[in-house]
Amino acid sequence: ALWRHLAPSAQRVNLNVRKNLQPQASYKVAVLGAAGGIGQPLALLIKMSPLVATLNLYDIANVKGVAADISHCNTPSKVQDFTGPSELANALKGVDVVVIPAGVPRKPGMTRDDLFNINAGIVKSLVEAVADNCPDAFIHIISNPVNSTVPIAAEVLKQKGVYDPNKLFGVTTLDVVRANTFVAEKKNLKLIDVDVPVVGGHAGITILPLLSKTRPSVSFTDEQIQELTVRIQNAGTEVVEAKAGAGSATLSMAYAAARFVESSLRALDGDSDVYECTFVQSDLTELPFFASRVKLGRKGIEAFVTSELQGLSEYEQKALEALKPELKASIEKGIAFTQKQA
Ligand code: NAD
Ligand code: LMR
Repeated sequence: ALWRHLAPSAQRVNLNVRKNLQPQASYKVAVLGAAGGIGQPLALLIKMSPLVATLNLYDIANVKGVAADISHCNTPSKVQDFTGPSELANALKGVDVVVIPAGVPRKPGMTRDDLFNINAGIVKSLVEAVADNCPDAFIHIISNPVNSTVPIAAEVLKQKGVYDPNKLFGVTTLDVVRANTFVAEKKNLKLIDVDVPVVGGHAGITILPLLSKTRPSVSFTDEQIQELTVRIQNAGTEVVEAKAGAGSATLSMAYAAARFVESSLRALDGDSDVYECTFVQSDLTELPFFASRVKLGRKGIEAFVTSELQGLSEYEQKALEALKPELKASIEKGIAFTQKQA
C-alpha cells in the first residue's frame, strides 16, 4: 500500500477511469526526532503514504531543511516543520500517530541499555508533551532502550491521567523485518511469503524469533535455529559494527517504522485485517510489558494473538524463560526512573 499510489495508473495520470480507487489522505502524523538518521528517511517514507494528509516534523535542530526538501515530493500530504520545545505543542495538536525516534544511537561496544541515561529523559519530556497535546494518538516508541523507554512512556501517561495501554507501542517491527529476510535467505523462500513472529523485547536475548511459527510452515535443523536466532538477536549490533562509530540502523529502521505507521493508519481507517508484533502492556506472561503479535483496530490493540505463544518448541520455551529476568529488570528500571522524577 505504501507504494501503490506511485505506480502508473489510469487515475494517477488523470484518465478519468475508475475514480476513488485510492485511499483518502486524512490522517495527521508527527515524527519527533525527524532530522536524525532514522527521522529523515522515515519522514520520506511517510510522505509517500496515501493515507497521510499532514506530516509534522519536529526536532531540536536542522528540521527546516529536511521539511523543505521532503515537501517537494508530489504526494498528498502537507509537510510542516517545528523546531525546539517552544514549537513542540503545535507539532502535536490534532495528531493521530506520533512516532518517536529521538535520542542517541549506539556505538560499537555499547549495549542499548548504555543509552538509558540520555534517552530516558528525552522520551519522558516528549511523551509529556504528547499527553498534553494529543492524548488520544497512537504513540510509537523507537528510541532505545525500548524495553525501558516504553514503560517510561506508560508511567508518564499514567501520571498525566491519559494512559491508554492499547495505544502505546514499542516499535519492534525491525526484528520481524530482519527475521523475515534472514529466514527467506537461508531457506530459499520467496521473501513476500515469509512471516516470522518475534516476541519478548528489543535487546539481545530478549529478542525471541518464534521460528517454529514461521509461515509458510518450514522445518529447520537445530543448527539453523541456533544460527538464525543468534543472527536476529545480534542484527542491530551487526549494523553498529559495520557503521564503525557512525551510528546504528537507520534505513532498515525507517523502512520498518514506516510499515508500522502504515499498519496503524490502515487500522485507524477501519481495515479489519491488521496484525503486527509490538512491545506493549501485556498479560500474556507474568511480565507487565511483552512484545507479541496483536490485532490493531481503530482504538489501538483490539486483540492479542495468544495462539503464537502456545505450543512453542523446547528451544523457544527455554529461550522465553531465559529472557524474562533481563526484560523484567529493564522494565523495572524504566518505571523506577519515572517514579524517581515525579
Ligand atoms: P540520530 O542521532 O541520527 O538522530 C536522533 C535525532 O533525535 C537527532 O536529530 C536529534 O537532534 C534528535 N533529538 C535529540 N533530542 C531530542 C529531543 N529532546 N527532541 C526531539 N529530537 C531530539 O539517531 P538515530 O540513528 O536516528 O537513532 C535514534 C534512536 O533510535 C536511538 O535511540 C536508537 O538506538 C534507536 N533505534 C531503535 C530501533 C528500534 O528497532 N526500535 C532501531 C534503530 C535505532
Ligand atoms: C537495532 O536493532 O538496530 C536498534 O535497536 C539499534 C541498535 O542499537 O542496535
